[in-house]
Amino acid sequence: MSRITYVNGAYLPEEKAKISIFDRGFLFADGVYEVSSVLNGKLIDNTAHLARLHRSLNELAMAAPASDDEITAIQEELIKRNNLKEGVVYLQVTRGAADRSFTYPVNTPSSLVMFTQEHDLIDNPKTQTGLSVITVPDMRWGRRDIKTVQLLAASMAKQAAIDVGADDAWLIEGDVITEGTSNNTYIVTHDGTIVTQHLGHKILSGITRQAVLTLAKEDDIIIEERPFTLDEALQATEAFVTSASTFVLPVVRINGTDIGNGKPGRIAHKLRQIYLDKALNGTLA
Ligand code: PDD
Repeated sequence: MSRITYVNGAYLPEEKAKISIFDRGFLFADGVYEVSSVLNGKLIDNTAHLARLHRSLNELAMAAPASDDEITAIQEELIKRNNLKEGVVYLQVTRGAADRSFTYPVNTPSSLVMFTQEHDLIDNPKTQTGLSVITVPDMRWGRRDIKTVQLLAASMAKQAAIDVGADDAWLIEGDVITEGTSNNTYIVTHDGTIVTQHLGHKILSGITRQAVLTLAKEDDIIIEERPFTLDEALQATEAFVTSASTFVLPVVRINGTDIGNGKPGRIAHKLRQIYLDKALNGTLA
């Protein structure tokens, strides 16, 4: 059965969901997006995702396509129409369709599309095995804090990982790990401190990152928000990633070297449990 999608005011079966060839998302990657997870048919931490959407839009001087209440109503309608219990809602805003020109068009309405994807987010088998990652040079642009649809460098890095039998890539700049292809990255040092790259233009301010760091602090875990190197990661007792589509997932191997004992770590496991408990009972943030 085909999914029902949303395209600029209309709910359409996916085969009928079309966008203009002049859409600036298509021609210039002039668009931003959000991915919100859904558990038991409910959006998780969606208010924070919409707040980040506004930030991305503001940074690019792009108009919001609808109010937050309207966007949320469309997300919920898609969940209902597709009977989505577990998975994600993807939403994308672009600067709209206008004749090709490097300058921003004037008075062109922004475009809003959304669709759902079904995934087993809770019973992800990688929770048990952990992820194996390789490092790939971070070739992305200088404003990774804006969640744009300009994802080719990340896609190339992920494919390079898959091609050598790994699960994902950690992006490296000089000797520092910035983040994963579509997740934030963390290591745990021998004294149990979590280290993760600080916010700024080099990484996306992950919504799951924000929630997980708050939960870790509440659990009296020390956090250091600073760059960490590949060498530090290889010496760590554990490593993990966070994102809306994976929550917290352990990383057990980097470039073929086991991290800690090569098994999913205790802290990653605990944070995943706490995050899921709060997400499922609606007490996240
Ligand atoms: N990606 N860093 C990057 C580069 C990302 O693309 C993502 C999310 C994150 C984690 O952010 P959050 O916790 O808000 O999901 C960090 C989404 C899931 C994607 O592109 O599918």
